[in-house]
Amino acid sequence: MAARLLDWYDRHRRILPWRFAPGETADPYRVWLSEIMLQQTTVAAVVPYFQDFTRRWPTVSALAGSDLDDVLRAWAGLGYYARARNLHRCAQTVADRHGGVFPDDEEQLRQLPGVGAYTAAAVAAIAFDLPAVAVDGNVERVMARIFAVTEPLPGSKGRLRDLAAGLVPATRPGDYTQALFDLGATICTPKKPRCMLCPWEAGCAARAAGIQDGLPAKAEKAAKPVRRGIAFFVSAPDGSVLLRRRAEQGLLGGMMEVPSTAWTAAMPTDGEAAGQAPLPADWRVLPGLVRHTFTHFELEIVVWSGRAAAAPALAGCRWVAPDRLGDEALPTVMRKMVRHALNQG
Ligand code: ADE
Repeated sequence: MAARLLDWYDRHRRILPWRFAPGETADPYRVWLSEIMLQQTTVAAVVPYFQDFTRRWPTVSALAGSDLDDVLRAWAGLGYYARARNLHRCAQTVADRHGGVFPDDEEQLRQLPGVGAYTAAAVAAIAFDLPAVAVDGNVERVMARIFAVTEPLPGSKGRLRDLAAGLVPATRPGDYTQALFDLGATICTPKKPRCMLCPWEAGCAARAAGIQDGLPAKAEKAAKPVRRGIAFFVSAPDGSVLLRRRAEQGLLGGMMEVPSTAWTAAMPTDGEAAGQAPLPADWRVLPGLVRHTFTHFELEIVVWSGRAAAAPALAGCRWVAPDRLGDEALPTVMRKMVRHALNQG
């Protein structure tokens, strides 16, 4: 099985900025950085961020010496912001405790901040060519199909992992790992898999049974709860806009935000909202809603726009000129609120 996949990979490997030509030595820093960025995020979304990060911080020591705020700003828009904080902590750990060299051992990699079982295995395999078993959603899908596992996810995770482990070859495990990612992304896709082009077609039990489109089966998911709130887009007499830094812990930790009420099941009443506004202003309720999907809930935000009589210094807040908003560590949900407010002038 592995030999056929490697042969396919040698002919069809995707050229990606973190990949190395055959025979070249992999740079564990670039492999680690790409794998952190690729968690829950597509290759297309990651590429420009990866290029920006490696240009600004070409080595793990450079990243370790950077300012966390610069890293958060550079990460803005990529989502799952705990990754950026852990990235910085991990770089510092590698610099301080490992002399700026990533350990070439899965167990030790696993001890690093932000490095879970998947990432430790991916880095061990790709950067150090060790026969580690890196299982992400792509690999689960391929295994469910090759072995026609009809038990639904997430219950089947352990089984799929065991099956994946049984296939990792002793030769070229790093290329094999990347080949499996590419197979999942380009051939064994979630919808309409391109079985006729697949190097594993002959050995695929789901294909033989004609059930590949329905695998992996997934347990019915509960609908996401909705949280609601009111955001305050407030400008000072000079046009600058009030932003606030979020708490270090928790969702979007340490990122900048458009100040808002707490996000609750019920939309706050006007009275509740006025009580949570960062300062008094001549509020106008903008029509429409800003919606955003988080992992665990849907968010619906009504934006209030207002002008403040002055630009007082407020704890944890900053007044930012509208043409400098792009430089701020504003997550996508906050950019949506800003756009919503600016579009309605
Ligand atoms: N997804 C996760 N890791 C990947 C990699 N190294 N190449 C392509 N897609 C990936």
